[in-house]
Amino acid sequence: MKLNIAILSGDGIGPEIVEQAMKTVKAVAKKFNHELEYEYALTGAVAIDKVGDPYPPETHELCMKSDAVLFGAIGDPKFDNNPKATVRPEQGLLAMRKKLGLYANIRPVETFDSLLHRSPLRRELVEGADFVCIRELTGGIYFGEKGRKDNGDTAFDTCTYTRAEIERILKLGYEFAAKRNKKLTVVDKANVLESSRLWREVAQGMEQNYPDIKTEYMFVDNAAMQIIQWPKNFDVMVTENMFGDILTDEASVITGSLGLLPSASMGIHTSVFEPIHGSYPQAAGKDIANPIATILSAAMMFEYAFDLKEEGKIIRDAVAASIAENIVTEDIAEGQAFKTSEVGDWIANYISKK
Ligand code: IPM
Ligand code: MN
Repeated sequence: MKLNIAILSGDGIGPEIVEQAMKTVKAVAKKFNHELEYEYALTGAVAIDKVGDPYPPETHELCMKSDAVLFGAIGDPKFDNNPKATVRPEQGLLAMRKKLGLYANIRPVETFDSLLHRSPLRRELVEGADFVCIRELTGGIYFGEKGRKDNGDTAFDTCTYTRAEIERILKLGYEFAAKRNKKLTVVDKANVLESSRLWREVAQGMEQNYPDIKTEYMFVDNAAMQIIQWPKNFDVMVTENMFGDILTDEASVITGSLGLLPSASMGIHTSVFEPIHGSYPQAAGKDIANPIATILSAAMMFEYAFDLKEEGKIIRDAVAASIAENIVTEDIAEGQAFKTSEVGDWIANYISKK
């Protein structure tokens, strides 16, 4: 099969972790005789520095004509500490999501047995925890009307959702739940927010179309608590953009490290595969960042964008083996830690030899 991939490494540790993921992608392509074609494009702070735009038109064109996008991370402290900056790296990510129509962000939360001792939660609470958070990605407060008034002394952001936007993401949630353990938790703040009340209304209208699936409703504050108290009670969780952003960072720590969780963003055009963590600028260029989230994102790319399940599985097996053998970076190492590039080499080599 021909695999035509756009690579957007971005900022901070982005280039290093994407490089490791590409080692595994190349190893898989070789092993399964796929014809791999890939091209790099600019995004984030590096794109602002070079061309003044965090998601330049050439990058968008490349994404549109590719079959999948592998994305690293974006963000740079020189913008974080300057609230007056008019162009920000994050705008590149948001523009990409909007222009590619990536309305669904799939964030699986899975634990590795050999890492359970790394979780801040007790072993019996996390052992076997396995759920998927489906985060709506192109609506809500991220994209609603925002601005300043009263000479800049009042600021506002608005959370807007349409029935159609809610329906399409809930539908995806039900489809996932149907293939998994048949439970969908709709997370909202319907006791306070009008947009959440519409979410709940739409979900209540759809529920009866999925009689095999148990629909559960949960306020976001309660969900934040239950994720750490009873992570095993979740199967598929679906929620709006910002709640999903916050809850998945929280969920990631139960697995032992934020450096482990991959994601897939899907919608109208090309799908994007990226780790859920950020650009970790303190570690940039040091060869210490954990590449596993990006490598697992590449596994999701094979499974979701190309429907190549075996290829995805071999990557997952290789990652599990590296963790079991403690060939891991300092965030999760017991004793000796390996470099980012060494972990990437080990995983790619495992795949080639398998
Ligand atoms: C994420 C990130 C982004 C988000 C930032 C970088 C804009 O935190 O992908 O979760 O908030 O969506
Ligand atoms: Mn986030």
